[in-house]
Amino acid sequence: MTSADSKHADPPGTLVIGNNVPSGETFDAPSTTPNGSQAQTVDHNPQNYYTFRDAEREVEFKRHDMPTPWMNYLSNGTFHTMLSHAGGGVAFYKSPQIWRITRYRFFHLPMDRSGPYFYVQNKESGAYWCPTNEPAMNKPEEWKSAHGMGYTRFEAKRDEIAAKVVYFVGPYENSLIWNLTLSNEGNTAKQLNIYAYVEFGMMEFMRELQWQCYNKHQVSVRYHKAGALVYRYGVENQPKPEETPLVYFASDAPLSGYDGDREEFIGSYRSETNPAAIENGGCTGSTLMGGDPCGALQFSITLQPDERRTINVFLGTSADEAGVEKAIARSREAGFVDRSLQALKENWNAYLGVWESRLPDPDAERMINIWNPYQAHRNFLFSRNISFYATGTFRGVGYRDTSQDILAVVPFDAGLALSKLQLLLGQQYRDGHVNHYFFPNEGWEPVTTVHSDDHLWTALAAWDLLAETGDAAFLGDQVPYYDGGQGTVYEHLKAAIDFTASKLGPNGFPLMLRSDWNDQLFRVCREGRGESIWTAMQLGTVLLRMVDLAMASGHPEDVAKYEAMYEEQRKLVNSIGWDGRWFRRAIMDDGRFLGSDEHDEAKIWLNAQTWAIISGMAEPDKGLQAMNSVRDMLDTELGIKKIHPSITTFPDPADPLTNYNKGTGENGAVFCHANTWAIIAECLLGRGDLAYKYYRQLLPNVAMDKAGLWRYKAEPYVYASNLFGPESDKFGLANVSWLTGTAAWMYIAATQYMLGIKPVLNGLSVNPCIPASWEGYTVKRRFRGCIYDITVTNESKVSTGVKSIIVDGEPIQGTVIPPYSERSSVKVDVIM
Ligand code: NOJ
Repeated sequence: MTSADSKHADPPGTLVIGNNVPSGETFDAPSTTPNGSQAQTVDHNPQNYYTFRDAEREVEFKRHDMPTPWMNYLSNGTFHTMLSHAGGGVAFYKSPQIWRITRYRFFHLPMDRSGPYFYVQNKESGAYWCPTNEPAMNKPEEWKSAHGMGYTRFEAKRDEIAAKVVYFVGPYENSLIWNLTLSNEGNTAKQLNIYAYVEFGMMEFMRELQWQCYNKHQVSVRYHKAGALVYRYGVENQPKPEETPLVYFASDAPLSGYDGDREEFIGSYRSETNPAAIENGGCTGSTLMGGDPCGALQFSITLQPDERRTINVFLGTSADEAGVEKAIARSREAGFVDRSLQALKENWNAYLGVWESRLPDPDAERMINIWNPYQAHRNFLFSRNISFYATGTFRGVGYRDTSQDILAVVPFDAGLALSKLQLLLGQQYRDGHVNHYFFPNEGWEPVTTVHSDDHLWTALAAWDLLAETGDAAFLGDQVPYYDGGQGTVYEHLKAAIDFTASKLGPNGFPLMLRSDWNDQLFRVCREGRGESIWTAMQLGTVLLRMVDLAMASGHPEDVAKYEAMYEEQRKLVNSIGWDGRWFRRAIMDDGRFLGSDEHDEAKIWLNAQTWAIISGMAEPDKGLQAMNSVRDMLDTELGIKKIHPSITTFPDPADPLTNYNKGTGENGAVFCHANTWAIIAECLLGRGDLAYKYYRQLLPNVAMDKAGLWRYKAEPYVYASNLFGPESDKFGLANVSWLTGTAAWMYIAATQYMLGIKPVLNGLSVNPCIPASWEGYTVKRRFRGCIYDITVTNESKVSTGVKSIIVDGEPIQGTVIPPYSERSSVKVDVIM
């Protein structure tokens, strides 16, 4: 169903747009309510809210009143800002937990406050508005914004003044650059006050919630003679005071006023919507020695007709006073801002230049070329730390999550991927288990719960690195163990297998320990006897890789052990693990199966079916039957549910496996991360049409078109962690967007399995699994120094099966194209 259709009727089947938003026809409410505030126009048609600009790698927004803030992440790897389409957001240096710079009010009303705001005021009338649209009450007459790769842009007009602001973090300074250009489009001179405003928070967000009343008097904002405000977070007992930076708020335009005290600039019983200073004639010149800090800079300018003026504002950090002065001086140099933006764009061009595809499906093409790798890069940077949904208060680097995030960075930057892999391995103990979360920036003690899967994931990343680069040397690099001593990368990976081998349960499967991939499973294995059948499949997948890694690192003596272990687990999976129509998920402490037809709830679990295939463990008839059960019992028109039926009382009404409401989160929702493995499994089975159905229905813009914008709510350009399932009251509501394992695995599923371009040890494998109706596609893929310019022609209208491959005019045998490091590019013709 297209979005145009959805404008006129609810989609068929179980998807009913629900109770809290009007369904069907677009309607426009009056523009003001009886109370005088602006009424919101609720419109289900996504096309009225946003549009993709693929050539520019941008998504453009036509309205500011989205159902939720639609975010972007601006970052140079050290200084970061999460910024919404309407200008709300939060800046932080390295860690949002201990070096958060600005305040963002999570879960509060009004939503999406505060942010880095400009106000444009006509001095004569006093009226003011914001190029970001929010938060001022006066709205621009014309407005749009756009997220691009590492930048966000706003363009607005009011009262003959046009404003364009580009926010970005450049590579040369740790600062958010606010690049404002104003033009007078009228016939008369305009006297303007321009204000730049941010609310500083306490750098430690948890301390802010707990100890603000005392610690707020240990922060200061002072005026610096360079014409800037400097915010100092001098709070006692902070974790790394010597690394806490000073924050500067400066501009390259002369100031006509400033405020460092929020009470002075905003005033009491006011908000960013109506700051007192702006309404009362200007900044008050306040500084702050304890209290609620802010940064406000005022610029009084006159713009003649047709005149254009640029003001750059820099919100940045530096270690000390001298560094602040240097950073400000450098930022004010002519050309600094343009150079920084240019470098940012070039960096992204180079990064995304690794892969460029042309596909029959433009939605898939956009996602694969642009937004999916971009999102995956942000996951790699931020793990599951801070988003509109996650407050950035506790979660550091998750071992399990980050191991998987690495997979989608390997193709683009193997060096970056390797350094993250080594960082993770540094959290491993000599016995092979690992810390569950750790805090490299904050220096806090790690979370040490022991899970059955965490330590195993890194082998997948190591194998992918080997396949990408063809260079096994890194397997011999020494990496410390968390509890002392060191071992090579290979020895770390081997220790992980040994740990699992030493923790098998009474039935022979890996013990569940605290949980496996599925966080909720701790409820059924508290007594330590529970076993994870899924972990057996994960182990199997890893063992296949370990055979290659052992050979590549010069340890052939380990191969037989890995093969024997694989075989043992494979037998168990197909015997005890088989329920009759699908694979079982786990064995609970009490010995009963989880994921069995004998129960009324949670009979079937998605992961146990997909990984039976991915691991190569499923006997062919069982594998096929299991994936048919997925199709028949779990698939919906908006993605595949993680379990069915949802849990309300299982296994014990007094202690159900999960407290999630049915159809939400970990309970019967469409868990997008787990959907990626169904795509891979179907590709491995050769069922290209089904794989593509599973892929396409979760493309965020496609799901939004189907569900309706006010039901789906989250961004249409990045994956969400989950969509509420049909058993919930809001089927199709997307949650926890941006930071989700979906990003990495969806990228792998689409590029390596559907499009079938997969690095393997001896070259680049081309083995597509596509809809039979596709006529073909092209991919340019950089691999081991050479660009493979691949044209796939689906001559026989099949889903799988490569008839011939011709490289630079020469036929090759099989489906693996050897590395051509001595050529800069090769032309590859693939006939299916
Ligand atoms: C989100 C967690 O970050 C991830 O580690 C886990 O695998 C999934 N939830 C599923 O429980």
